[in-house]
Amino acid sequence: MSAAPPLPAALEGLALGRLALDHVAIAVEDLDAAGAAYATLGLQPAGADETVADQGVRVRALSLGDTVLELMTPLGPGGPVARFLERRGPGLHHIALRVADLDTLLARLQGQGARLIDTRPRAGRAGSRIAFVHPAFTGGVLIELVEPAA
Ligand code: CO
Repeated sequence: MSAAPPLPAALEGLALGRLALDHVAIAVEDLDAAGAAYATLGLQPAGADETVADQGVRVRALSLGDTVLELMTPLGPGGPVARFLERRGPGLHHIALRVADLDTLLARLQGQGARLIDTRPRAGRAGSRIAFVHPAFTGGVLIELVEPAA
C-alpha cells in the first residue's frame, strides 16, 4: 500500500482519529417537558443538569450511543438561545464536532477564510473549550467545535 497523500493543513488537526460527533443540541422551552418526551424514546440523562453561564443556558445531556443529545433552555431573556426560541421556536440549534486541538484548528480555519463566530475558544459544558462556526459557512447549520476537558 502506498502512503496516504498529505492532508490539507486545515484538516491536520482533524486527522488524528479523534474527529467525532460530540453532541447535537436542541433548544427547548422546558427541560423537564422535553426530557420527558425524549425519555419516552429511551433517552436518559447522562448526568445532572448543568448551567453554561457563558451561553446563558441550562443543559440536560441525554445519552445517545457514543454521543449526546443536549437539551438547552435559556436562563433568562436576551441570550442567544432565548432569541433563537423567539425567532424560530424550539428545534435543532447546533451540531458539535469533537476536535483534538481547537486553538490550532481555529487558526487554520481563519487562515483558510472560514467564517467563524468565535475566533478564540470559550467555555463550554463539562470543562470543554468551544467555538462556533458561522452557519452561513456551513449550509445554514450552526456548527460547534469542541475540545473536551483534558
Ligand atoms: Co453545544
